[in-house]
Amino acid sequence: MALDERLEAALNAQVTMEYGAAYAYFGMSAWFEAEGLPGMAQWMRAQAAEELTHAEKFYQFILDRGGRIDLGPIEAPQADFDASIDVFRMSLAQEQAVTVSINNLYSMAVELKDFASLPLLDWFVAEQVEEESSVQQIIDDLGRAGDAGHTILMLDRELGTRLGGGGEQATI
Ligand SMILES: [Fe+2]
Ligand SMILES: [Fe+2]
Repeated sequence: MALDERLEAALNAQVTMEYGAAYAYFGMSAWFEAEGLPGMAQWMRAQAAEELTHAEKFYQFILDRGGRIDLGPIEAPQADFDASIDVFRMSLAQEQAVTVSINNLYSMAVELKDFASLPLLDWFVAEQVEEESSVQQIIDDLGRAGDAGHTILMLDRELGTRLGGGGEQATI
């Protein structure tokens, strides 16, 4: 079944959104590096790498369905933040926006009876639950840590054990 033009455009917009999410996470990673929190920087870099794989999943799917890739522009990411928790709050807001976008894609696919899109979109629906939940957990932890520097350093160490993104650190 040929890809409907509207769905093709929406899938392309999703590719751009996932690349945009990656770019934003690289910006967040760079801020943590500058703040001397390499573990959180690594977590963000791994997150960015994951977003790139999301973009590629949609990209490949468009091609597999005989569609055409049409990449949109990406805004420069925010470079300055007041506190670590604000970075993760922005991450949560970004994930929530992606969830809305995936849900809209899902509705469109159902409406157009493009059932071939549903396995891919089901995967993303589940992935977004994971994404939102893991970021929310970090926000809760940072909220409990408050201004306690040693707790933030412990959390930084813990988040730095996440692999991916090419910035792996030796774990002790
Ligand atoms: Fe994503
Ligand atoms: Fe994400």
